[in-house]
Amino acid sequence: MTTTSETDKQVHNDLQQQAKDHLWMYFTRHSNFHEEKNEIPVISRAEGAYIYTSTGEKIIDGLAGLFSSQIGHGRKELADAAAKQMMELDFFPLWSYAHPKAIELATRLASYAPGDLNRVFFSTTGGEAVESAWKLAKQYFKLTGHGTKYKVISRSIAYHGTTQGALAITGIPAAKTFFEPLTPGGVKVPNTNFYRAPEHLRNDEVAFGIWAADRIEEAILMEGADTVAAVFLEPVQNSGGCFVPPPGYWQRVREICTRHNVLLVADETITGFGRVGAMFAVNRFNVVPDIITCAKGITSGYLPLGAMIVSDRLFEPFKSGKTSMLHGFTWGGHPVSAAVAMANLDIIENELVIENVLANEDYFREQLETLYDIDIVGNVRGMGYFYGIELVKDRETRETFNDQESEKLLRGFLSKELFTNGLYCRTDDRGDPVVQIAPPLIIGRDVIDDIVAILRKTLTKAAELF
Ligand SMILES: Cc1ncc(COP(=O)(O)O)c(C=O)c1O
Repeated sequence: MTTTSETDKQVHNDLQQQAKDHLWMYFTRHSNFHEEKNEIPVISRAEGAYIYTSTGEKIIDGLAGLFSSQIGHGRKELADAAAKQMMELDFFPLWSYAHPKAIELATRLASYAPGDLNRVFFSTTGGEAVESAWKLAKQYFKLTGHGTKYKVISRSIAYHGTTQGALAITGIPAAKTFFEPLTPGGVKVPNTNFYRAPEHLRNDEVAFGIWAADRIEEAILMEGADTVAAVFLEPVQNSGGCFVPPPGYWQRVREICTRHNVLLVADETITGFGRVGAMFAVNRFNVVPDIITCAKGITSGYLPLGAMIVSDRLFEPFKSGKTSMLHGFTWGGHPVSAAVAMANLDIIENELVIENVLANEDYFREQLETLYDIDIVGNVRGMGYFYGIELVKDRETRETFNDQESEKLLRGFLSKELFTNGLYCRTDDRGDPVVQIAPPLIIGRDVIDDIVAILRKTLTKAAELF
């Protein structure tokens, strides 16, 4: 007779083999798993702030899935909302018809958004929301007599999605190389990594913010304002490691965009729904963009959903004219996703999830800052429940690791070791090497302490590699 553990082992081995034979994982170097001994981590269960591997290890979900799981895993209320909706209205598209959950969710999102951002266009993903925003910007200007405006300005190392249009907005050269030529019109400017600011601005964050914002104006003028449709920015840039905007940066960018009749798009795919301590991060920075794009945390990742939220001004030509936006997605605003989003937002509000983030963000950052006694910890940055730790070879000079060293440090050691020590998070070298932490927003100081303890143990060992 086969024992349970033997059965479990067989299931595990079968999954490993089938994954190696058939599954194509995103952004993954599959050669890593060719050798028999290198197993693909298989996550089979999740609850609260923890994920469980197929072999039963309990791991802290230090990345909220992929910056998504605001309320944590396994909430029955969301499963119930999905089941109820499936029995009531499983699916209906938003092509000339509406359904109650899309209407209710659109109304709710408009109530969270600042200014006159009152119109909601649903998508299935963040990338689709970004695509939609660019297409809207182009059509809006064509309809309002500025048909030459089509270009988009975004920032170095920023990630805005992988489809051809969104990829042209994305600022990560390696992600684009194989897919050139991309949609024309993507223009890049510097990001707000204060740690890597030009030497003469390193001691003055406000001056750095002015400098960085002015690079946007410079790009608009160099391209010609009559060719530029929009500026796409994340309120806190994820890729590169949680670049918080310098004080005054967003205000200055807003002024620049208004001055040149360029739309300002806040890509809140990650920062929305409490990640940085507000329903939308722009509310924390007191700025009103023309469009917000969002996804991920809107359902806490229980189902796919994205949206762009648009100002009344941008909707005006569609409201009063005979034209329509010939654009949409079969699954955009799916009734079950919308029902789950409503239940998710109920929990975020009723259980004071954002208040929890605000109450703990200083503590979180202070605990991460204790890691500065490890030689390779160069810079800790971020806000809310969204932090990046930039790793350096020499803290005095801020010398970064070269490609080979970064490979050895991140892929060769850190990502595996952190996981083995009980923490799932991101190690990333799309910019300078960083470890990123973005756990579910429900965690308290006990789990923050556990995260920092695992980071300390692992980074201390990593420092010994060099
Ligand atoms: C800022 C930002 N925009 C867009 C996207 C693309 O979202 P999706 O993967 O849902 O298409 C992401 C994904 O991480 C993102 O971080």
